[in-house]
Amino acid sequence: MARRKKIYEGKAKTLYEGPEPGTIVQYFKDDATAFNAEKHDIIEGKGVLNNILSEFFMLGLGQIGVPTHFLKRLNMREQLVRSCEIVPLEVIVRNYAAGSMSKRLGIDEGTQLPRPIVEYCYKDDALGDPLVTEEHIAAFGWASQQDMDDILSLALRVNDFMSGIFLAVGIRLVDFKIEIGRVYEGDFQRLVIADEISPDSCRLWDIKTGQKLDKDVFRRDLGSLTDAYSEVARRLGVMPNNPPASGKPTLVN
Ligand code: TMP
Repeated sequence: MARRKKIYEGKAKTLYEGPEPGTIVQYFKDDATAFNAEKHDIIEGKGVLNNILSEFFMLGLGQIGVPTHFLKRLNMREQLVRSCEIVPLEVIVRNYAAGSMSKRLGIDEGTQLPRPIVEYCYKDDALGDPLVTEEHIAAFGWASQQDMDDILSLALRVNDFMSGIFLAVGIRLVDFKIEIGRVYEGDFQRLVIADEISPDSCRLWDIKTGQKLDKDVFRRDLGSLTDAYSEVARRLGVMPNNPPASGKPTLVN
């Protein structure tokens, strides 16, 4: 098979040149990192689960008219996406206090917020993705005012869609992060949801038990990440045919 051109290797994904101009193959790795890659491990099967879960959310968003970069899943670990220019912001939507917001503002984790709160972090690993305001974004030209209006509206639509999907399977969407891409169509540019939507980039708590079903399981050493993500995939009805091994021995009858 011809060797593909690698465009970029990130912490959890590798991007390769796609088969046609304007396309990219997004490969989901098994690497898990936290705290700006200070903590790292290989979690067997994570890439497969995130590929399938991200496909599920991106397809669903497309069906309700939220544009995404997703074109199609190619195999267990890869999907074809539209090439786009990533806006250098992490867009975070929070429904309940948790994580860095709880620390910063001294609000107990799990406290319901009066309304969804959208935050922006400047995407720069060397700086640890610092929280920024719309003033910084406008002054430094990271996005225009029109972009920011569109990004806010997209983020809230994604929140409504995902909150509903998770509620239906007994999971609370505490918060999540999305990334936004620009695609150019002739003289026009359009903003789309890019990167991935998976338990790596969400906080998901079981509504009844409060059990964490997201990357906090890895960040906080709470058990098997594969089991947590498999549970999310199982509830959403998208569990791959051959579930990834959890690393634990299985009894054979
Ligand atoms: P935070 O509470 O640590 O700021 O995280 C908010 C949300 O963003 C949470 O759902 C996890 C997600 N997130 C990422 O996807 N990537 C990151 O690098 C960080 C720090 C958080």
